[in-house]
Amino acid sequence: MAERVFIRKNDKPWRQGWELTDDERDVFRQRSRQSNAAKVAAVRGHGPEPVHDINVPSLDPDDLMAQLPTNGVRSLSLFSGCGGLDHGYERAGYEHVASYDHYAPAGETMRAIRPSWEVYSGEAGDVTKVNWRPYRGRVDVVHGGPPCQPFSMAGRQLGKNDTRDMFPEFVRAVLEIKPQAFMAENVAALGSDKFSAYVKNTIIKPLSAEYQVVRFQLTAASFGVPQRRQRLFFVGFRSKRAAMRFKAPAVTHSFAHLEPRRAAMLSFHDLEAPLERCMGAREALGLPDIGFDALAPTLRSSLTGPRHTTSVVSSVTAHKLWTQLGIWPNGVAPTREAARQFVAANGDFRLSVPDCAILQGFPESWPVLGSVYVALGQIGNAVPPPLAYHIAKQIAATL
Ligand SMILES: C[S@@+](CC[C@H](N)C(=O)[O-])C[C@H]1O[C@@H](n2cnc3c(N)ncnc32)[C@H](O)[C@@H]1O
Repeated sequence: MAERVFIRKNDKPWRQGWELTDDERDVFRQRSRQSNAAKVAAVRGHGPEPVHDINVPSLDPDDLMAQLPTNGVRSLSLFSGCGGLDHGYERAGYEHVASYDHYAPAGETMRAIRPSWEVYSGEAGDVTKVNWRPYRGRVDVVHGGPPCQPFSMAGRQLGKNDTRDMFPEFVRAVLEIKPQAFMAENVAALGSDKFSAYVKNTIIKPLSAEYQVVRFQLTAASFGVPQRRQRLFFVGFRSKRAAMRFKAPAVTHSFAHLEPRRAAMLSFHDLEAPLERCMGAREALGLPDIGFDALAPTLRSSLTGPRHTTSVVSSVTAHKLWTQLGIWPNGVAPTREAARQFVAANGDFRLSVPDCAILQGFPESWPVLGSVYVALGQIGNAVPPPLAYHIAKQIAATL
């Protein structure tokens, strides 16, 4: 058997590279060359005849979050990425104070969408360099999703030993600004036993001297987002009474018709209204009925893991589900027109960046900029705006 080698060496412990034999590496290279050649041919109009119409999505994620009137509550966004949280808070009626993210392309997306917003990116957006005290008295809610890679399987779960761990910086910002409330978000894995000491010592302990902290998990599909995605939220209030009044958002949608077993595991108490039906991925994207639909598998962020990619496949199981859905999740195209033109080898419907954005809960009016892997990185890292919206509503109601 041929010797196993790493294809890429570097000093980042979370980037281990793929372990491949020379033969396996050749197969991947050949596939990649063939795929690139097919893409070039498609762009020049020399590929196979398109087999799908350009899709017209049925889901407008803004319909999942009716614009609320201004509520006068001022919010500051840390680790804002392409603005999943920012958009949800905006729809819930908050007044935007500023956004910070050190990833320059994310800043470009935000500035293009909201030219009047104060957006700090690149070096100016690096939260480790900011003195937050000048924001004291100017901000009511600080929200942010520190990078999830230190806690996610794809990021190798190094926790506080991962230099990308930014929770201490989030805590520092909250303690310097002293807003009435804060909200932090991360992958559900942060709530597992593996990280219970981390959560206690790094998040709860330093904040609990001044804040009452509540934590809960939400499932994106319970709020109408057609994707398998669970997130963990920490919400804190300076006032004990406010913390006691706060209620995590009640679910608005059911996905039992798509995933009965998974849906049955969630118990729905205190429902105020009958649930709406969450669309499946095919229905949301406006694809023809093939007698099967499901929530899209969790979209992988192309910036997470060992290499940058234009695939959104997050696991082998995910790949199988994409196949059942008749959707090709690799070589995501920049636009719907380009996706139609670049026919997938198996004839499945090829995803485009705007389609991935819809599956993540972003409306077409919030276009994410950058080359395909850069845009997919921002989308896959984002909090689905409808989740942010419902929490923001509950926080505002509490305050
Ligand atoms: C999980 S994403 C947040 C996504 C965002 N909350 C949303 O909903 O779209 C984490 C973000 O943290 C940013 N980040 C990581 N380290 C940072 C730092 N030192 N300063 C500012 N931003 C940072 C990354 O660029 C990334 O966009």
